[in-house]
Amino acid sequence: MAIVPEVASRLAKIGVDVVVESGAGADARFTDEAFRQAGATVVPDAASALSGASVVARVNPPTPEEAADLPQGVSVISFLQPVASADTVKALAARGATVYSLDLLPRISRAQSMDALSSQATVSGYRAGLSAAEHLAKFFPMFMTAAGTVPPAKVLVMGAGVAGLQAIATARRLGAVVRAYDVRAAAKEEVQSLGAKFVELGLETQEGTGGYAKEQSAEYLARQQELLAAEVAAADVVITTAQIPGRKAPLLVTAAMVEGMSEGSVIIDMAADSGGNCELSVPGADVVVNGVTVVGLTNPPSLMPTHASFLYARNIANLLALLVNDGELAPDFDDEIVAGTCVVRAGTVVHAPTAEALGLSIPTAPPPPAARSGPETAGPETDGPETDVSTESKEAGS
Ligand code: NAI
Repeated sequence: MAIVPEVASRLAKIGVDVVVESGAGADARFTDEAFRQAGATVVPDAASALSGASVVARVNPPTPEEAADLPQGVSVISFLQPVASADTVKALAARGATVYSLDLLPRISRAQSMDALSSQATVSGYRAGLSAAEHLAKFFPMFMTAAGTVPPAKVLVMGAGVAGLQAIATARRLGAVVRAYDVRAAAKEEVQSLGAKFVELGLETQEGTGGYAKEQSAEYLARQQELLAAEVAAADVVITTAQIPGRKAPLLVTAAMVEGMSEGSVIIDMAADSGGNCELSVPGADVVVNGVTVVGLTNPPSLMPTHASFLYARNIANLLALLVNDGELAPDFDDEIVAGTCVVRAGTVVHAPTAEALGLSIPTAPPPPAARSGPETAGPETDGPETDVSTESKEAGS
């Protein structure tokens, strides 16, 4: 969920009143009583939580129908993936909303405390490591027992970004021998610092912008698959985390590569939701092919909702601290973080790729002053000097 009790009391200190729908925290193990003790107001249903809210904080975006029920001029913070959520963006714009999408947050040092993609990737990588250990019918650590010596599990992690590094750290903590691979040169040192061996393929690195990998050609991926086949075959566990922002995940493990793996091996595909790094993965399912279990991991943070919510709520609170001044919404749209994260400003779509996807004119200048009246200037729904943040139950479970 988007706000947890500890964060509600922090928000109270900057003049933000938190209103929570009763039961919203149940899946993440936060009780109504804990929210009350933190100074939040607990109301019986979503409609009461939304009524009078100036900001709605959520994990997932509202549906277009839910957006239509939001207060006029409200500010919304969530993971929106706006280009893929055109109908929701349209519905939010029609409500005169100001919308911030955390997946657009610029990855600069000042924004690290708000980086929800990283906090949730940390949870996901940890869960991927645990899931691998649970599915493997072998120990992860080496055991020297009176009955004989058990060798450590061999884990290969493909994609060493935030999630991959956490998967490496988790597998290492459990005692596995870990090798890891990434197309970005910077990943090598990070992998080594965690006590894993970096796999060198001798291919060109594929750095894109903002520290991300760029999209790779079909020829590049084919060559990569060829060179990685022996690494995959030698592993007890393969954890794949490779992503290209805004694109289908690259195919790293083909069906033929799976065929080369030993009976009982395990593949954890963390990119199952975005097309899959493994040809055989099915989102949300465990598939067994030739004795190899392929786990299509989906929404891993929902498997650890207390700390996933805790970290997400901290990210939200840090963003709110930037948007609120003296208890009032006062976003500075010249701030790189505010501007970079904002998709819709007082009903005007200001994120160029989203505007393009919606067939709207591509914004080049700030919206005219008339369009600026909205929650950020304490519109009618801001009842008094303080900002009300509402969080609903829809986001519980992640
Ligand atoms: P991501 O989730 O978009 O991708 C995961 C990983 O897959 C990346 O490391 C990428 O290089 C890798 N990958 C893509 N294609 C691949 C292929 N064919 N084979 C193997 N690996 C492949 O990335 P994530 O984890 O969100 O961030 C990646 C990088 O972004 C970080 O390592 C860092 O450099 C930068 N970053 C910077 C932050 C900051 O400064 N605040 C915060 C978070 C990330």
